[in-house]
Amino acid sequence: MNHFEYGPEGLACEGVPLARIAAQVGTPVYVYSRATLERHFTVFRDALTAAGVVDPLIAYAVKANSNVAVLKVLGDLGAGADTVSEGEVRRALAAGIPGDRIVFSGVGKKRGEIAFALQAGVAEINVESEPELNLVAAVAAELGVKAKVAFRVNPDVAAGGHAKIATGKSENKFGVSFAEAARLYANASNHANLEPIGVACHIGSQITDLSPMRQAFTKMRGLVEQLLGEGLHVERLDLGGGLGVPYFDMPAPPSPADFAAMVGEVTQGLPVKLAFEPGRVIAANAGVLVSEVIHVHERPEGKRFLVIDAAMNDLIRPAMYDAFHDIRPLIPRAGEMTYDVVGPICETGDTFTRDRALPPLASGDLVAFMSAGAYGAAMASEYNTRPLAPEVLVDACKFAVIRERPTYEEMLSRDVVPDWV
Ligand code: LLP
Repeated sequence: MNHFEYGPEGLACEGVPLARIAAQVGTPVYVYSRATLERHFTVFRDALTAAGVVDPLIAYAVKANSNVAVLKVLGDLGAGADTVSEGEVRRALAAGIPGDRIVFSGVGKKRGEIAFALQAGVAEINVESEPELNLVAAVAAELGVKAKVAFRVNPDVAAGGHAKIATGKSENKFGVSFAEAARLYANASNHANLEPIGVACHIGSQITDLSPMRQAFTKMRGLVEQLLGEGLHVERLDLGGGLGVPYFDMPAPPSPADFAAMVGEVTQGLPVKLAFEPGRVIAANAGVLVSEVIHVHERPEGKRFLVIDAAMNDLIRPAMYDAFHDIRPLIPRAGEMTYDVVGPICETGDTFTRDRALPPLASGDLVAFMSAGAYGAAMASEYNTRPLAPEVLVDACKFAVIRERPTYEEMLSRDVVPDWV
């Protein structure tokens, strides 16, 4: 459930007409609903509690939507943060999320990033390979600290909505094998600067079938039992993110309650705390991208292009993953026409959808890309020297710009022409 609904002035976010925001802030613009973010986090947490999961660490995956205001909304509810770069750790800290609720993941953390995370006192560094373990140990020794590490294990299970976002097969770059995990865990336990605290997995994103998750989590349970059986200290099992969301009128994916029930069943009686790294399920349906129609270009042969002022640099998911986003006119209208919806960028990939049936639209009309709160603004770029779309947070009847659209002066000022040019 989300808080984007049609009202007397068209499509609105928590009752605030999106057209009003567009008039004030300009387009394209991302708009997020605080109530929806809070609801999604609460539903996820309460589902786990109901399934008997005690005191989980819910580390929201910052990569999905990393705006500091969004992080603060979630952090204030008790969310932790799953981060994959020093920048993301800094964002989480800036939002007031304490270090001991921050997980630091990723296959290629650099020395400086590891040092920063250790100094921030992160809850766990999810180590993805032996060379990385050695680097963490070396950095921790230099700093004279003991690094809390968890081993990210690749459970060799296929899952995820698209090949580019499946991570759980052994051919993917993520994590160590089960055999490696057991060996590295034991070695690390004897290292003066390492404190292995658990194991982690994340098998993919936009997963709409619980069975690969059940399979992976069952394997992870086996590993925890094996490590405990070897007398090793294990206090946390991190089960990652990946739960899918409905992007349109599709068969409903498993709900957080279904997911939590499965987790409760698989981990029942396991004497460790659980951690989760949900991103999309919290943020996707809490945001939209509002754009204005620039032209309707009809070809005599029949093609009809809706040229809008948002482009692949603002929302890359359709170009990158063939992702489907529902597109709704802000003002509902009867009738149906077929459009290719395209942005102004000079490449054919800048196509949001082909042959989409939409109500008749004209220059100046506003449309919203639904479910754009996750991996939307966070993946945006300035390709074609287009300013990053601003972000707006709505809270009941008020709203605020939470990231300004940069000015052209700001954008150009980052380039430096050497005096020898
Ligand atoms: N934890 C780890 C280690 C991850 O790599 C990811 C996502 C998550 C958690 C959060 O997964 P979620 O709950 O959001 O599925 N850009 C793509 C999605 C990439 C996901 C990458 N990893 C998209 O737009 O669909």
